[in-house]
Amino acid sequence: MITGSGLDEATRLLAEAGIENPRREARLLLSRALNISRDETLSVKDLNPDQTGRLEFLVGRRAKGEPFAYIIGRKEFWSLEFEVGPGVLVPRPDTEILIEEALRLVPDRNAALRFADLGTGSGAILIAALKEFPNAAGIGFESSVDAFEWAQRNVARLMPGRAELRLTDWTNAETPFDLVFSNPPYIPSADIESLAPEVARFEPRAALDGGVDGLDAYRALAGLLPNLLKSGGHALLEIGSGQANDAAFLFQGLELIRIAPDLSGIPRCLILRKP
Ligand SMILES: C[S@@+](CC[C@H](N)C(=O)[O-])C[C@H]1O[C@@H](n2cnc3c(N)ncnc32)[C@H](O)[C@@H]1O
Repeated sequence: MITGSGLDEATRLLAEAGIENPRREARLLLSRALNISRDETLSVKDLNPDQTGRLEFLVGRRAKGEPFAYIIGRKEFWSLEFEVGPGVLVPRPDTEILIEEALRLVPDRNAALRFADLGTGSGAILIAALKEFPNAAGIGFESSVDAFEWAQRNVARLMPGRAELRLTDWTNAETPFDLVFSNPPYIPSADIESLAPEVARFEPRAALDGGVDGLDAYRALAGLLPNLLKSGGHALLEIGSGQANDAAFLFQGLELIRIAPDLSGIPRCLILRKP
């Protein structure tokens, strides 16, 4: 039961549930429940019953392990605010390496490039890449209806007119692209249950499950990419921890340019080139 400003008790309930930054999250949930800024939460005195009910509802969801980003409905990626919720993968900071590597590959920011994002989810990679290349256009392919709807909302708000979305399996992608991005599902099926509960229980299986060895999506992409890339075009693929060599080996038709590490130094991104 939450009383007073709600902040102390929300913090305690979140801490008891094992949440890592309970005070920070409590303040953000309070700001959400009251529709005020985070700074204003410090001057809140007593909540009325409606406000208490809203805060209890949000704290209860978080205490059950639901991703914080789903509860507040947004997640920052590449300094852009993406709308997210049940049915779509929450974009991860490590994925920003794909955008950094695209900037290294193509120094001319004004190039009129064509991008594809295979398994676009929230649209995070496609929209961030288009932000950096103002004359580029791109298509995001997504097979999940729920994820596709989140991508539609984000494109409409952040990149209207420049990003196209297709609700289809990525095997239906056609016409060659200069850059193909993908952060495919790459967790070995048997490992999913041992992931943090907020991932395993709440994020969509289709965004995580890479088959028995985690490499199913790379096998599919290895067959597709030679036809999807223009000659001299590049693919930037996120990989799971420990997958670099096995995944790279699958792309025999393409030249491996580099394997880039993530923020923790783990090999995280394959950069491949079509000769
Ligand atoms: C790991 S998530 C990545 C989402 C987003 N690109 C990101 O980085 O946050 C993989 C996405 O690929 C989609 N996906 C999986 N297999 C697919 C396929 N064969 N065709 C199209 N999309 C697919 C999933 O539904 C999911 O949204």
